Amino acid sequence: MKLENKNHQIAIDGPAGSGKSTIAKLLARKLKCLYIDSGAMYRAVTLYIIENDLLNKSENTITRHLKKIKITFRENKKGQAVILNNKDVSKKIRSLVVSKEVSKVSSKKNVRKELVKRQREIAKNQFIVMDGRDIGTTVFPEADLKIYLTASPYIRAIRRKKDLENLSERISTNALIKQIQRRDDLDSSRMISPLSKAQDAIVIDTTNLTISNVLKLINSFLPA
Ligand code: CDP
Repeated sequence: MKLENKNHQIAIDGPAGSGKSTIAKLLARKLKCLYIDSGAMYRAVTLYIIENDLLNKSENTITRHLKKIKITFRENKKGQAVILNNKDVSKKIRSLVVSKEVSKVSSKKNVRKELVKRQREIAKNQFIVMDGRDIGTTVFPEADLKIYLTASPYIRAIRRKKDLENLSERISTNALIKQIQRRDDLDSSRMISPLSKAQDAIVIDTTNLTISNVLKLINSFLPA
């Protein structure tokens, strides 16, 4: 893929713990292009909704708040910080409380409409790798390459447990498997842009693959 050609899009979708963000981040670094974690945007909106006590409010009320929610990404030593209304919320958005509510928030029509619009705006004239649930199906249906990552629920829970331990959050593997399965079910069954594989996506099961193996595989699919 020639870097001087702007507007390239690589879509990486899949369920929680399938390795999307790790792979997408490394791939973007290798290709020297922008990386956007669309899940972080849904998580940031969810955090705003929790902190402003809007969880049980109507979709109309939530829609009115959307314009007050500013989400940006800032590169730092640790990678990419997520900024919500000028505050670094990179850690907070990964908490169990946010994970528990995010699927409900992301099933709302106007939340999706707004975030898809923002994701396309960020990508304008950019060579971008974006990961999420609906990138290959809805956000960039014309993406140059679409990857769909999967892994067994057990392995996904073990990976997520490690992430949470780094945030000093503790949860049993069984409880985490249940939470991940609940999120998979909600994300796959929602009405608007559910988690699903785009017809032309390449499926990679990462259960028994190392990060470097997954990257090598993706590399072999990159258009010349
Ligand atoms: O990192 P993990 O795979 O656990 O999730 P994430 O990518 O941070 O996404 C969190 C949640 O946001 C998902 O469970 C979906 O409910 C929602 N999401 C979405 O609906 N569409 C996207 N493009 C990305 C995330």
